[in-house]
Amino acid sequence: IGGVVALSTLAGGGVWFGGYRPSSLAVAESTSTAVKEPFDVDLRLRAHPDKVSILPGAASEVWRYTAERVAGPEGSLTPVGDSYTGPLIRLHRGQRLRVRIDNGLPEDTTVHWHGLHVPSDVDGQPRLPIAPATSKTVAFDVVDRAGLYWYHPHPHGPDGGRVGFQSYAGLAGPLLITDDTERALGLPDGEQELVLILQDRTFTDGNELQYLGAGMGSMMTRIRGFRGERVLVNGRPDARREVATRPYRLRLLNGSNSRIYKLAWNDGRAVTVIGTDGGLLAKPERRRSVTLAPAQRIDLWVDFGDTGPGESVQLVSEEYQLGMMGGRGMMGGGGMMGQGMMGEQMGDMMDRGMMGEMMGSERIPLVTFAVVARANDSATLPQRLAQDLPASPVQADTPVRRFELGMRMMQGFTMNGRRMEGATVADDEIVRLGQTEVWEFVNNTMMPHPIHVHGLQFLVHERIPAGGKTDLHDGIIDAGLHDTVLVFPEERVRIALTFESFEGLYMYHCHNMEHEDTGMMRYFKVVA
Ligand code: C2O
Ligand code: CU
Ligand code: CU
Repeated sequence: IGGVVALSTLAGGGVWFGGYRPSSLAVAESTSTAVKEPFDVDLRLRAHPDKVSILPGAASEVWRYTAERVAGPEGSLTPVGDSYTGPLIRLHRGQRLRVRIDNGLPEDTTVHWHGLHVPSDVDGQPRLPIAPATSKTVAFDVVDRAGLYWYHPHPHGPDGGRVGFQSYAGLAGPLLITDDTERALGLPDGEQELVLILQDRTFTDGNELQYLGAGMGSMMTRIRGFRGERVLVNGRPDARREVATRPYRLRLLNGSNSRIYKLAWNDGRAVTVIGTDGGLLAKPERRRSVTLAPAQRIDLWVDFGDTGPGESVQLVSEEYQLGMMGGRGMMGGGGMMGQGMMGEQMGDMMDRGMMGEMMGSERIPLVTFAVVARANDSATLPQRLAQDLPASPVQADTPVRRFELGMRMMQGFTMNGRRMEGATVADDEIVRLGQTEVWEFVNNTMMPHPIHVHGLQFLVHERIPAGGKTDLHDGIIDAGLHDTVLVFPEERVRIALTFESFEGLYMYHCHNMEHEDTGMMRYFKVVA
């Protein structure tokens, strides 16, 4: 199979996973963790195939999450737009959550709570798959700071991962935590707080999603990751929001497989960042543009107060391009893959440094904010935001662990020369509970890698670009807490992390989903 495959073909024809099995649920059930009642929020989350209308014309086949609230406040579960996107789970810090996950898909899946500090056995790791037609119940305390987190599948079998495929098919949803300190700041909420999930997709003429999977022998997808031809926002094309002349809070998630966005306003106003993956910053940061790598979240403040009704403002992305070879040609029909470029030639090109990721001048519109009403709201942005951010825990004797990001020809990217090998850890992948460490990621490849660590939020301690800062860096926000950090080619990034509360296996990996699926992922173990 050498080309782009429509999702429907894949699911229906069972190209990778044998025949399509229509499921009947609850054949088997398993429960994880010492679950203690009562639960403040009790949900049922089902992953299943469906058809939804995305583009004009025929509906598209997707895989999606739908959910039901068994118990808990009414606002704990709200739909996100009108597409495949998983529902928004709204939690308050301190609540206890229980979710029964039903797998209605024709293959194994898991549900990972990205960014949350949860016990290993409810973390949705590939070592604990949920088989088709079975369910699993997970429960945990919501201990994390107020912020936007998300949930997505994390299956990985002996033949590679299915994160890229399952997420692309539509399995991903947002999870918003609030707490009293955040509430006290009086930031825009209700209709003035918008959750916006950015995902790029390619469709066939018949409106079916197309995915060129990493496991399909495509060198280009392995190297670059899958990139879709158009960007959807909350699963819909041509996103437009009607707003009034007042401040808004935009909670953005990059749910794309590999695309890196560089967010900017089309009228040149500064992008005002108030939060990152792990919640609010200590104070707002203003930039001309802001970089958002796969899996990262950014919290923006924008005031449409000086935009007249009838006018509109666009949030755009300044696109990163693959040097020399950008454009549609690579994805299919007649592109380089179509001409049967061999691995050898590809290697040759990489040696000649022709495959660097660079920033182009192309700007793609993401969301149009149409100002349609006047509002008398003079709310101003507090200049002091979070007061609870940890100071740097790094001391002179803090241990440093080094991870070299490399590449193995014809296989994929590596970390310290290793690739995903199931739930095994090497001697140097064991850390102590309660210990603070510096992890240094050294990128020896020509691709940027958004490196993610499970089960905690970390501080970016230091970023050392090989040849000094470039244009690529002006959008990087290293302040605040993060669970995913972008490491550019020939750069080293040091993060400071503390392994709190839970023993057991966790993961660290590249969140370019095709890199992850092709093995750029490992477990580490927290021991007492
Ligand atoms: Cu969002 Cu291990 O992933
Ligand atoms: Cu994660
Ligand atoms: Cu990567």
